[in-house]
Amino acid sequence: MSVHLEVIKQHLIDPEICIRCNTCEETCPIGAISHDGNNYVVDASICNLCMACVSPCPTGAIDNWRNVAKTEAYSVEEQFTWDELPKQTTLAVSAESAEAAANVEEGEGEAEGIEVDTVLGSTLPPWSAARPYVNLYTHKAPISATVVGNYRLTAETSESDVHHIVLDFGQMPFPVLEGQSIAILPPGSTPDGRVHHARQYSIASARDGERRGYNNLSLTVKRVTTDAKGEARSGVCSNYLCDLKKGDSVQVIGPFGSSFLMPNHPNSHLLMICTGTGSAPMRAMTEYRRRRRLKGATGKLMLFFGARTREELPYFGPLMNLPKDFIDVNLAYSRTPGQPKRYVQDLMRERAEDVAAMLRDDSTYIYVCGLKGMEEGVLQALADIANQSGQPWEPLWKKLKQFGRLHLETY
Ligand code: A2P
Repeated sequence: MSVHLEVIKQHLIDPEICIRCNTCEETCPIGAISHDGNNYVVDASICNLCMACVSPCPTGAIDNWRNVAKTEAYSVEEQFTWDELPKQTTLAVSAESAEAAANVEEGEGEAEGIEVDTVLGSTLPPWSAARPYVNLYTHKAPISATVVGNYRLTAETSESDVHHIVLDFGQMPFPVLEGQSIAILPPGSTPDGRVHHARQYSIASARDGERRGYNNLSLTVKRVTTDAKGEARSGVCSNYLCDLKKGDSVQVIGPFGSSFLMPNHPNSHLLMICTGTGSAPMRAMTEYRRRRRLKGATGKLMLFFGARTREELPYFGPLMNLPKDFIDVNLAYSRTPGQPKRYVQDLMRERAEDVAAMLRDDSTYIYVCGLKGMEEGVLQALADIANQSGQPWEPLWKKLKQFGRLHLETY
């Protein structure tokens, strides 16, 4: 007698690479991901392979799959004990089930037959992007960086306390590109005794250093005093960073990110849309372009940047000092007393003609970074501007995604 063997692709998280940032657990729409003090795990009996968690994962630890007999799927209890992923085993199959298992290949791979249409932006970098290094340092083997600068960017009078923090890596290698991020391990533990998980921040400086030629980088960090509902809450890692003094050491993991990267061909155009601390990667890309400018870069830079008020807009001064023929800066303020509320998408519509001209050019690359809520409004504005200028949005959107030209990073 033989037994039919049902084979599944089991979704697993690599404990060696995962930085325990909680993004996957927050993203999973059906509660299939959970964690203990050791690991983040996926419950095979709940996971429907919707892939929603895959692209938000900063490290790629989430993108692991094993072919297993359904009855022998790894339990969450078993996954909690792992230090590394198990190897793909050869499935012992009966003659009758051999055919069913015939398509199952050994090793890791993407889940087959799943339409990843939940992804709104590109998952590939621009063709001319430099090759990034990722996951050089993990939560088990972080790198120590020294704080060499910590400056408040927003006016003392404003409620919003945003800091520009410069970290130096000394003689240790930490190669980064604009658009990449790092994670910080805050010291201490939660009230129930678990170590704090790592928090991710976009790099705000160019690849050749916050100070050109130095092995350092900068972050844009906002002190967190309330949660999304306005209730009092202290941000564990952000507040730790904002309070750091020159000379302090921090534990760093990363770098992360292999698609939100800038094109390197000099005639490429950057359309950058951000709010608040989402300005970090835009600052990095703008600065790199500024440094390369004399070397023949001819591409256009257009920036839409939203903040509550001028006093709360990080980097307002330096931004205003950039030459007008280098970058087209558009600032949207939502809470200026006596002025109507304006969001970045409102300004984009006001500049529809120029945005449409950029959309028409195959050398234009679009970057969106900031509040989750802005994503929908910005994509809608892009769609309306495209459609109204005779560029049907659906095929254009598809093309932008496919060619690594539409990059979204919201939180
Ligand atoms: P708002 O005044 O409505 O909060 P923050 O300071 O919280 O980081 O926000 C940065 C800016 O982004 C603020 O001007 C904020 O406006 C704005 N904002 C909030 N929601 C959206 C949205 N859905 N689309 C675009 N901008 C938004």
